[in-house]
Amino acid sequence: MHDINEQLEKKRTAARQGGGVRRIEAQHAKGKLTARERLELLLDEGSFEEWDMFVEHRCADFGMADNKIPGDGVVTGYGMINGRLVFVFSQDFTVFGGALSEAHAEKICKVMDQAMKVGAPVIGLNDSGGARIQEGVASLGGYADVFQRNVMASGVIPQISLIMGPCAGGAVYSPAMTDFIFMVKDSSYMFVTGPEVVKTVTHEEVTAEELGGATTHTTKSGVADLAFENDVEAILMLRRFFNYLPLNNREKPPVRPSGDPAERLDFSLDTLVPDHPNKPYDIKELILKVVDDGDFFELQPESAKNIVIGFGRLDGQSVGIVANNPQVLAGCLDIKSSIKAARFVRFCDAFNIPVVTFVDVPGFMPGTSQEYGGIIKHGAKLLYAYAECTVPKVTVITRKAYGGAYDVMSSKHLRGDVNFAWPNAEIAVMGAKGAVEIIFREDKGDPDKLSRREAEYKARFANPFVAGARGFIDDVIQPHETRKRLCRSLAMLRDKKLDNPWRKHGNIPL
Ligand code: HXC
Repeated sequence: MHDINEQLEKKRTAARQGGGVRRIEAQHAKGKLTARERLELLLDEGSFEEWDMFVEHRCADFGMADNKIPGDGVVTGYGMINGRLVFVFSQDFTVFGGALSEAHAEKICKVMDQAMKVGAPVIGLNDSGGARIQEGVASLGGYADVFQRNVMASGVIPQISLIMGPCAGGAVYSPAMTDFIFMVKDSSYMFVTGPEVVKTVTHEEVTAEELGGATTHTTKSGVADLAFENDVEAILMLRRFFNYLPLNNREKPPVRPSGDPAERLDFSLDTLVPDHPNKPYDIKELILKVVDDGDFFELQPESAKNIVIGFGRLDGQSVGIVANNPQVLAGCLDIKSSIKAARFVRFCDAFNIPVVTFVDVPGFMPGTSQEYGGIIKHGAKLLYAYAECTVPKVTVITRKAYGGAYDVMSSKHLRGDVNFAWPNAEIAVMGAKGAVEIIFREDKGDPDKLSRREAEYKARFANPFVAGARGFIDDVIQPHETRKRLCRSLAMLRDKKLDNPWRKHGNIPL
């Protein structure tokens, strides 16, 4: 017995040391925490239950038979974040560069399977050189096993990836199938093939940072949702983010009581929208003034800025917020913003989180680059997402709702539950100027007549009453009462039940 305990302690010590002091120091020198230090920060103190500390790889090639480290490069188990259950895996770069072996994959699969059974999210802290090169196809098989589970878990339990080191090859495809990707600036990278391979194949010279750094993926590619300064900030923000999410798709979103009164009015909102219809204003000011305690967790703030997405709370309840942003491209919908918002709406729908939409949209972005890029198909993603969505949907038109974009942005016609408009809302096929230039083409040579026509069109359509007369708008509300009306609507919708017809799955325009 004494012997076993001694052996046990020896193995535990070896597992805790990972790749050894030298490699741990190298990790620290790069400003990175180790796999275990990260978990300590992520989980509530003392809540971590580790599994599979004694798992070892089974590879005998390339001298690997004598090179085994208990745990095999990934720390797995479960714990709590603010008292709520979560399954975790944290890859250990000090052990074979965090590379994924067959055994390493089995450990990840085990926590994913258990998370599915009990209905709890999985958070992956990724720091991995990809497939364990010494293992060949066994490692590739391991990746595929993880991928399959990512897909089966999609829409059942939230999956979040934190990228905390170089992630290459297979190491990026599992995160790509999770719901959210957070990265750390200057120390994390994601690419299918690294700079060396890129140079050989395409002759492009590019640094790892340019190719797949946090800035690249949060500004250019839209692959990642957020970039943080360092490991500590990323983990602490992830803990905050976790509070908005239900544990699984059978749960209602979490409610966190707040001292912020649901009926609170904000009169400063009455002057938010400028008198001139083409003057921009800050839609985030509206969001911050409406949500509980001004607390809004924005996602993808640096990508497709013409639409804003993120989580907030209204009367304690988590809500997903989608808002056109008149400060960028006048709030037009284009390819990137449609994709950004569509995926977000689908996440909310999958996890019972109500969607609040603020609309100020002059239409879809015109032009060859948009058409050649497939705006028809990509814009349809957002249309599809809103139309398919069965969670409570509350919409506020703050100014423009023109054309197809009016339909798309959670309109009544797409089963919007409660649709409000502010008094200055303009709901029409297009702006007055463009409209009269088309329907009164014969008056083109007569600017006076044309401007009279424009005024006439404006008087007729640049208001919320035409839509209101048809019941497409449930009420015209004053900006200052927006929070109150949203909170009442969401309370009314708390037990909403709406099912789509049975089908194997729809065919969203991918
Ligand atoms: C085994 C690996 C490894 C790997 C790194 N190491 N990647 N061991 N398999 N894939 C080991 C190194 O040998 C080294 O061991 C230690 O990890 C640290 O690596 P370094 O190169 O010293 O670190 P760094 O300079 O920071 O570079 C990190 C790196 C680089 C960018 C990740 O190591 C790298 O490019 N690795 C290979 C990436 C790759 O091509 N992976 C396969 C992708 S294919 P020692 O003992 O010296 O500490 C793939 C297919 C799946 O994943 C496809 C599914 C769709």
